[in-house]
Amino acid sequence: MRIAIVTISDRASRGEYEDISGPAIEACLRRFVVTPFEAVRRIVPDGRDSVAQVLRALCDDDPVDLILTTGGTGPSPRDETPEAMRDVMEKELAGFGELMRRVSLEQTPTAILSRQTAGIRGRTLIINLPGRPAAIDLCVEAVFPAVPYCLDLIG
Ligand code: MTE
Repeated sequence: MRIAIVTISDRASRGEYEDISGPAIEACLRRFVVTPFEAVRRIVPDGRDSVAQVLRALCDDDPVDLILTTGGTGPSPRDETPEAMRDVMEKELAGFGELMRRVSLEQTPTAILSRQTAGIRGRTLIINLPGRPAAIDLCVEAVFPAVPYCLDLIG
């Protein structure tokens, strides 16, 4: 099992600030995933093309089973993770975004600004998580029960 964690952030990719969300996702996965897995980490700038390019490479060249992205789902001009998802996904799994927004809205009204989604390309499941490290556990906990079955169905 190989899981890629993709941090999408202009400032983290330029080394201007430390990537906290990527390590937070990996720590969260170590609690949730019972089978051993290899974690592949990437940090890329915001933007439709840079995000689509890394997602395609991770799905097509030497495919990973699961990709978790963090960041770029908001409404700011540079937030283009959902547009990149639309470019690369073969099937959208809208329920993932709906559930993550539902649990997040119980904590903060600004969760309505999130455009997170999930989808499949080839045999890889891609899930968008929010950029905020504090939101990661909540979202992973909410959707993870459906992930092993989804991977079985597409693998
Ligand atoms: N979800 C949770 N659980 N907690 C949060 O604080 N912040 C929201 C939303 N989802 C938030 C959240 C805000 S303010 C934004 S702009 C969007 O996520 C998009 O975040 P991103 O661009 O870092 O992906």
